[in-house]
Amino acid sequence: MNSLPFNIDSIRAEFPILHQQVNGHRLAFLDNAASSQRPDAVIDAVSHYYRNDHANVHRGVHHLSHRATDAYEGAREKIRAFINARSIREIVFTSGTTESINLLANSLGQTMQAGDEVIVSRMEHHSNIVPWKLLAERMGIVIKVAPINEQGELVLDELAKLFSAKTKLLAIAHVSNALGTINPVADIVALAKQHDVPVLLDGAQAVPHSKVDVQAIDCDFYAFSSHKMCGPTGIGVLYARESLLENMPLFMGGGEMVISVSFEKTIYNDLPYRFEAGTPPIAQAIGLGAAVDYLEGIGMDNIAAYEHQLLELATTALSDIDGLRIIGTAAEKAAVISFVFDDIHPHDLGTVLDHQGVAIRTGHHCANPVMDFFGVPGTARASLAFYNDAEDIEQLVKALHVAVGMFR
Ligand code: ALA
Repeated sequence: MNSLPFNIDSIRAEFPILHQQVNGHRLAFLDNAASSQRPDAVIDAVSHYYRNDHANVHRGVHHLSHRATDAYEGAREKIRAFINARSIREIVFTSGTTESINLLANSLGQTMQAGDEVIVSRMEHHSNIVPWKLLAERMGIVIKVAPINEQGELVLDELAKLFSAKTKLLAIAHVSNALGTINPVADIVALAKQHDVPVLLDGAQAVPHSKVDVQAIDCDFYAFSSHKMCGPTGIGVLYARESLLENMPLFMGGGEMVISVSFEKTIYNDLPYRFEAGTPPIAQAIGLGAAVDYLEGIGMDNIAAYEHQLLELATTALSDIDGLRIIGTAAEKAAVISFVFDDIHPHDLGTVLDHQGVAIRTGHHCANPVMDFFGVPGTARASLAFYNDAEDIEQLVKALHVAVGMFR
């Protein structure tokens, strides 16, 4: 690899979990699309919060509650800036991408009628299918599915044909978790705007890997998770355009989302709090804020450039392995490589790789319709992050040769 945008050894030194032996081998962690790892900066921020500042937020008049509130709301502002939302009123904390999409489905669902349509694509993660399926079962909305081609790219001409007067939402992945395809989201949003249809982007696999600017994309909703971008588990974000969020029906009720309650009248809180019932994930938000600081310190453009080099290195190396077939060969790809061998089950492969210290994910990756399209029960998937290095790729290739030798 040439002219790296940062010192990879210094980066790796900041991730304590990477420096261990697994099954007697150096760990090569290549399951980052499922969950990334955390640098010291995030671990320390969470630890510092619990050691010094913890209290419930927005409630107490006491000092610790103020400090916790400042740190929690400070994280919201960091996230706003990170995705270039206009206002913190557009940043709703959820438990993750799945809850973000469920929140939207349950809120917008209240404005839909039987026969109304939601467009998704064939490459969606189950979390951007099932919430809409539940609405279909509960109230008869219709799900239309945009097709993909053999490279795993969206067929935009076919997507364009799916819009109708009944289309209420286009809900689509920014980056496919199973294939790595990067969808042309600004073009897709522009297409939807021609039909006056709002767009939700599932950005779980995009935000950790490149700069996302929700105003430049011009999407209406954008969902993502902390745990895939070096932050804690249990927190994610729903970005929603304020003019839409302002009028959206409420989803969960409880404390925090109200100003006053009586049996006669309830006054709901301002944005974004009226969509955040209950005690929020405070430490997780602070950890996510630290993750944002950390990623910005490296630079999202540097991360994207480095991961692209790593993807090319890995794609070339894997393509040389006899019988290995890559599933997902889109022209625009994030650093995800799904692959199969016709004569080796992905789970067997994953197990043999684990014995050599290589962590990959195997199975359907919560994307059954993608697997059905390609006619495979599942794939082996190596998903890369900016703290992976060429040695990780070499270790993967070596381990695959061992597996091939065992099963043939
Ligand atoms: N959605 C996560 C993945 O792709 C869990 O592995």
